[in-house]
Amino acid sequence: MLIALLPGDGIGPEVIAEARRVLDALAIPGLTFEEAPVGGAAYKASGHPLPQATLDLAKRADAILFGAVGDPDCDSLERHLRPEQAILGLRKELSLFANLRPATLFKELADASALRPEVATQIDMVIVRELNGDVYFGEKGMRTTKDGKREGYDVMSYNEDEVRRIARVGFETARARRGKLCSVDKANVLETSQLWRDVVIETHAEYPDVELSHMYVDNAAMQLVRNPGQFDVIVTGNLFGDILSDQASMCAGSIGMLPSASLDANQKGLYEPIHGSAPDIAGQGKANPLATILSAAMMLRYSLGQAEIADKIDAAVATALANGARSADLGGTMTTTQMGDAVLAAL
Ligand code: IPM
Ligand code: MG
Repeated sequence: MLIALLPGDGIGPEVIAEARRVLDALAIPGLTFEEAPVGGAAYKASGHPLPQATLDLAKRADAILFGAVGDPDCDSLERHLRPEQAILGLRKELSLFANLRPATLFKELADASALRPEVATQIDMVIVRELNGDVYFGEKGMRTTKDGKREGYDVMSYNEDEVRRIARVGFETARARRGKLCSVDKANVLETSQLWRDVVIETHAEYPDVELSHMYVDNAAMQLVRNPGQFDVIVTGNLFGDILSDQASMCAGSIGMLPSASLDANQKGLYEPIHGSAPDIAGQGKANPLATILSAAMMLRYSLGQAEIADKIDAAVATALANGARSADLGGTMTTTQMGDAVLAAL
């Protein structure tokens, strides 16, 4: 089983290194690693954020463990050369359309949440985010209006097949949990969302055992803070899912804690922390590696058929937190390596 390691930019290499140490310590038979540059690091080395060799490795690998991309040095490059295009390109090229972002609060972190502990401890949900469509991948550009003003545009669209396949992932995910699916859209304003809602309702006929509800995205943002415990599984589009998952992470303690899986139709996946490259703290040993370590656990569970070992990692993270492991984002002073050490010790 070949794992492609794509550390990327900023804190990416630091957090990937800790996940690698955890995987090495588990000595899983047959697991091999190959590393390749991606994002701003790849652009600086070879002129492209997603070099062909990196894409080939990602296609060849059984699973991909990804750090983060984003580099302020690259912010004025043409869009197709920016670091973010690497992750968008991988998602599209590998048809990784289903993004699972679990948001659960480790009970040890109830005080780290932006919410009151009694509200925060109720969080136990998964955001299922569509990843191959929406305004992210529509026609976009800059143009000049008739009266000479600059105008930027990005077209939002979903076709029914795209909605149906992610809706099914949402229903399946809910079925394996508490059986409640909330579809988030903006059907009161957007045609894209009206189609989304219609198709989700049609798909519900295949899953009569799952309880389906609908919520407008603005209300969902409010409800996530007011009463996050009401959600089991949220299914939503690419843009709304991007925003709501960052918000859910803060309700669950810290953005440094949330892992994610991006899956194709055959459970091949790319696994990454939901946080970005955090250039402001890069290279200082301040990053929390737990989201990446938990992403490695998701990788073992979903793509490599190693659920038991995944459980061990999850438990080791919980133990490390119970023993007081806290990086800066969790209100502590431990370095990235010390956080990795704490997980290794618990293993
Ligand atoms: C995420 C990130 C990406 C996104 C960026 C880096 C392109 O914010 O994975 O949530 O917008 O999808
Ligand atoms: Mg995001």
